[in-house]
Amino acid sequence: MVTQRLALLVFLTVVNFPFDQGEIISSKPQGVRAAYWPSFTGYPASEIDTSYFSHVYYAFVLPSPTTYALEIMPNDVENLLEFSNASTRWTQSANTMLSIGGGGGGALPGTFSQMASDQYSRTTFINSTIKVARDYNFDGVDLDWEFPSNDNDMSNLGLLFKEWFEAIEYEANVTGRPRLILTSAVYYASNISVDGGPQSYPIEAITQYIDWISPMCFDYHGSWENFTGLHAALYDPNTDLSTDFDIGTWNRAGVPTQKIVMCLPLYGRTWSLADPHVTTVGARTVGTVPGSGLLVYSEVIDFNRENNSTVVFDNTMVSYYSYSGDSWISYDDVRSIELKVRYAQSQALGGYFFWALGQDLDWAISSAASETWLD
Ligand SMILES: *[C@@H]1O[C@H](CO)[C@@H](O)[C@H](O)[C@H]1NC(C)=O
Ligand SMILES: *[C@@H]1O[C@H](CO)[C@@H](O)[C@H](O)[C@H]1NC(C)=O
Ligand SMILES: *[C@@H]1O[C@H](CO)[C@@H](O)[C@H](O)[C@H]1NC(C)=O
Ligand SMILES: *[C@@H]1O[C@H](CO)[C@@H](O)[C@H](O)[C@H]1NC(C)=O
Ligand SMILES: *[C@@H]1O[C@H](CO)[C@@H](O)[C@H](O)[C@H]1NC(C)=O
Ligand SMILES: *[C@@H]1O[C@H](CO)[C@@H](O)[C@H](O)[C@H]1NC(C)=O
Ligand SMILES: *[C@@H]1O[C@H](CO)[C@@H](O)[C@H](O)[C@H]1NC(C)=O
Repeated sequence: MVTQRLALLVFLTVVNFPFDQGEIISSKPQGVRAAYWPSFTGYPASEIDTSYFSHVYYAFVLPSPTTYALEIMPNDVENLLEFSNASTRWTQSANTMLSIGGGGGGALPGTFSQMASDQYSRTTFINSTIKVARDYNFDGVDLDWEFPSNDNDMSNLGLLFKEWFEAIEYEANVTGRPRLILTSAVYYASNISVDGGPQSYPIEAITQYIDWISPMCFDYHGSWENFTGLHAALYDPNTDLSTDFDIGTWNRAGVPTQKIVMCLPLYGRTWSLADPHVTTVGARTVGTVPGSGLLVYSEVIDFNRENNSTVVFDNTMVSYYSYSGDSWISYDDVRSIELKVRYAQSQALGGYFFWALGQDLDWAISSAASETWLD
């Protein structure tokens, strides 16, 4: 009865105010507030506080290098069960995404390249992603191919996206279930220049078939270079290595801004200064301590506290660095994260995602981002 009256009310509302829905239903899109759960770190999925996230990504499962179907090993089964069990107990419901691939390197990029090059292996792969996603109650699937590296890879990726979308739409039609969400983590810019190049991502296929892409706007600098740098700068007046520039490449290439989800790192990159008295961005470095080049956010904060680090907010590049002795760390903190989320909103982006869960300190960063986005 209550349901009937509610339905009637909704019906009347729509009929009476067809052009005025903005006042009835909030016109503000909820957007994507996502984070990846690295299944291999031991951080319990049951501890994820989903009040801060709309989408949680399971990272990662892999395709077989010979059949191209997803290869679910016994330890994958254990992690997938942990994740899906935990997801039913989260205090606030969040969409769950099965992410395929990752930055493991090795043979993986070649496996993706071969899988995408042939229609039969694409279909095998696609069908298995749907099966695994449904078996473990995911709401969507995500491709993290790091990276397609030549023109063939890019055009095959376009075919893969098209056939994948058609397959998930077909499956939804046949089963009557909501269509799986289809997303992809991509290189930070819309063109890649690894194997010669530049090669452009298949922009039309992305626009037509992918719900959103997640450009990996981080690791612009690291201990592989012999100078300090802000590894996830929002702006950089001197180079093209910044989130603002990279989001712009996707936008100018024609991807609608609502389909771009911006990356926020929950980790820092570290160096050893060549001269402890020269501590600026761009200072000479000689090595990788602390943390062999990488510290997660909670470790950065511990390090800074215990070592009385000097903390600098770079107002121009919108990121943080800290130094103590010869240690130098690039990272993000609450203020830079809030400004980055404001930036994402000013560009009408679809949302943001974190790499990775388990690296925050008492949800300081996750909650700041979420509160800023929903504010
Ligand atoms: C599911 O999670 C609950 C609570 O965390 C736990 O007690 C139970 O053993 C889990 N079940 C499985 C099958 O992992
Ligand atoms: C993939 O799934 C579709 C739809 O269920 C089916 O028709 C097709 O034969 C499958 N192909 C492969 C290679 O598994
Ligand atoms: C699924 O159903 C929709 C709506 O009926 C239709 O437009 C679409 O073509 C169908 N897609 C597939 C792949 O069957
Ligand atoms: C990206 O690459 C395409 C060719 O694949 C080229 O036409 C385009 O100008 C490039 N865009 C940028 C921003 O370099
Ligand atoms: C820093 O690295 C670059 C390129 O790897 C090299 O050309 C340069 O000599 C190095 N500078 C110093 C001071 O080691
Ligand atoms: C403080 O710095 C020293 C020397 O770099 C390091 O070994 C130690 O782990 C740091 N403390 C913390 C809490 O990270
Ligand atoms: C940090 O500062 C405190 C208080 O000034 C001092 O006791 C401590 O020794 C300092 N630690 C380091 C690693 O410099």
